[in-house]
Amino acid sequence: MKILVTGGAGFIGSNFIFYELANSEDDIVCLDKLTYAGNMKTLASVMDEPRFAFERGDIADVDFVESVFKKHRPDIVVNFAAESHVDRSIEQPDVFLKTNVLGTQNLLEACRRHGVTRFHQVSTDEVYGDLPLDRPDLFFTEETPLHTSSPYSASKAAADLLVQAYSRTYRLPVSISRCSNNYGPYHFPEKLIPLMISRALADEPLPVYGKGENVRDWLYVEDHCAAIDLVMRKGREGEVYNIGGHNERRNIDVVKTILRELGKPETLITYVTDRPGHDMRYAIDPTKIHRELGWLPKTGFDEGVSRTVKWYLDNKAWWQDIIAGDYKDYYERMYGGR
Ligand code: NAD
Ligand code: DAU
Repeated sequence: MKILVTGGAGFIGSNFIFYELANSEDDIVCLDKLTYAGNMKTLASVMDEPRFAFERGDIADVDFVESVFKKHRPDIVVNFAAESHVDRSIEQPDVFLKTNVLGTQNLLEACRRHGVTRFHQVSTDEVYGDLPLDRPDLFFTEETPLHTSSPYSASKAAADLLVQAYSRTYRLPVSISRCSNNYGPYHFPEKLIPLMISRALADEPLPVYGKGENVRDWLYVEDHCAAIDLVMRKGREGEVYNIGGHNERRNIDVVKTILRELGKPETLITYVTDRPGHDMRYAIDPTKIHRELGWLPKTGFDEGVSRTVKWYLDNKAWWQDIIAGDYKDYYERMYGGR
């Protein structure tokens, strides 16, 4: 089979490509625009692999997407391509609508024209909004109503609704997965865990939003990749599957864990102005994917954080190149006045 992976030069998409090349016999085509978040260095180890091909372009570009489908004739399409950072969506929402909504619709049309056997949409738990801190008994299930907070989550929810519309109206064989926060190798250093690792290593202040009490439900990226693989091959058509490993942590505790792992002092922690509309708590109920597909996460949080910290220590060139470039302006814009 041939799998088209969009957004495969980003964090989760690249880990998914490595997972598929190691665990399946399928051919993989990566389609990626190479925005600030896409990085060819991440894919360097697979560029000469005969089962792998790379196409640079935009999922929202009709002619480009058609040409890729004509050339490669994929059986399965897995859509990771997205603008993915909440803070950037607050600063500049329009590109989130273009890529996340119109780009997804363009892929759906191409899948319809070319009769793909499965379109899988990589969605997020953020489409459910947030949960209160004082109700630890509540979790997101697949039936939780969509209730978004940021332009990012609104654009992802809009894409999910389009995917479901193509299933119902055109009988396109689709599936959707909604995962909690990922962490692991090749995570862009604007996101909490890699940001804190890279700044702590440079003995720079660690910007914790608000009081650091917001809770995220962390999953090691390889566990997410294994779950997507199962859903796209064996998940029921038209269905949504939540993915998460019951790994809830307050942001401040995540930051302290990283500091302990690196042997750095907690005095680096700096509380800064909160993110507008900041979701309080995410927590996934993964019962459905466990019951129907037998999926369970393999990597606990402490082990996952140790592996991640080690990866950032062993791969300094990868992230130091990033933070030495345009990222500097981004950091100044985003954090300068906070
Ligand atoms: P990322 O920002 O690291 O990577 C996104 C990739 O998409 C980059 O390679 C970028 O170049 C590419 N891209 C962006 N716009 C494009 C366009 N118009 N056309 C083609 N390629 C384009 O993102 P990530 O963290 O790897 O997230 C991947 C997917 O998983 C996203 O859809 C995101 O919503 C979802 N998700 C992420 C998390 C998480 O914790 N990171 C959790 C749940 C779901
Ligand atoms: O839940 C899944 C989502 O997780 C994905 O859909 C998104 O693509 C992904 O970016 C992530 O969104 P979050 O907003 O939860 O991730 P982020 O790493 O930006 O922030 C995690 C928490 O840490 C959040 O509560 C905000 C806080 N934070 C973040 C940054 C960047 C800080 O306190 N300081 C920071 O500098």
